[in-house]
Amino acid sequence: MRRKWFAALLAGALVTAGVTGCGGGDAGSGSGSGGDKITLGFSQVGAESGWRTANTKSIQESAAQQGIDLKFSDAQGKQENQIKAIRSFIAQRVDVIAFSPVVESGWDTVLKEAKDANIPVILTDRAVDSQDTSLYKTFIGSDFVLEGKKAGEWLVKEYQGKNDPVNIVELQGTPGAAPANDRKAGFAEVIKADPKFKVIASQTGQFTRTDGKEVMEAFLKTYPDIDVLYAHNDDMGLGAIEAIEAAGKKPGTDIKIITVDAVKDGMTALSEGKINYIVECSPLLGPQLMDLAKKVKAGEQVPQRVLTEETTFTQEQAKAALPERKY
Ligand code: AHR
Repeated sequence: MRRKWFAALLAGALVTAGVTGCGGGDAGSGSGSGGDKITLGFSQVGAESGWRTANTKSIQESAAQQGIDLKFSDAQGKQENQIKAIRSFIAQRVDVIAFSPVVESGWDTVLKEAKDANIPVILTDRAVDSQDTSLYKTFIGSDFVLEGKKAGEWLVKEYQGKNDPVNIVELQGTPGAAPANDRKAGFAEVIKADPKFKVIASQTGQFTRTDGKEVMEAFLKTYPDIDVLYAHNDDMGLGAIEAIEAAGKKPGTDIKIITVDAVKDGMTALSEGKINYIVECSPLLGPQLMDLAKKVKAGEQVPQRVLTEETTFTQEQAKAALPERKY
């Protein structure tokens, strides 16, 4: 009787957390202990951007290719959904848990639960701010501070030798998310060396096109003399371009635009002269994540930090790279 009650409760928890099987696995039955096949529970942030869609595809395809039973859960941008998903992965006794944290803080309790259950955790794409680094095995993803610095360095070069004030507006990513915090910090650190650079407004656009457009419309109404837009991702930049054009201004010329990601739509706008510079952030983390999952399951040592290799694109470089761009 008690077992039946527990099974019903668990089934309810799985539905609430939106956990679905993928790559040939059965979402309800999962157990990492049977057979050689590794079961990986992955909690994704959501589907807020082109980057995220490409990241999800990379993870799902790599799992299928490498014969990993992937239990995929979409948190729809909510930390509480990720916590529920991680708890359901623990209840299912998956072999490895990976997740891309919506925000940096508030993970210690659930990570401790995974550790107590002896299930290794891999942080993917974004970091957590837990002091206890034994709560996860490794962290694979980009250096977001460096990405912000690269954006700032391009700006400093672009305005070299000019003395007039440069009015910058910033579209931040999701509040509390590592890429929003770090891209802001990296950019600010570089531009603070020259007082002519002034961030006159900085607000979240939630990493989405819709919010990017809406916030940019408000910026344009309040500040008639914007020189530069720094958007923490392509999607917000693309939304802002619509707002700039609707306001009768020319994106890339009247207002210079720097974004992060380098997804196809962003690269297209860059090649058309509507964006001036893009700092790449690669979403193709799937193959490395599967390798790491196999290693931690086998009890092998893995590096604490696995950095993604990335580049930057000017308008000319975007034209050359676009035909081969996969996402
Ligand atoms: O964590 C990576 C960031 O999340 C991407 O740069 C952004 O587009 C996404 O939503």
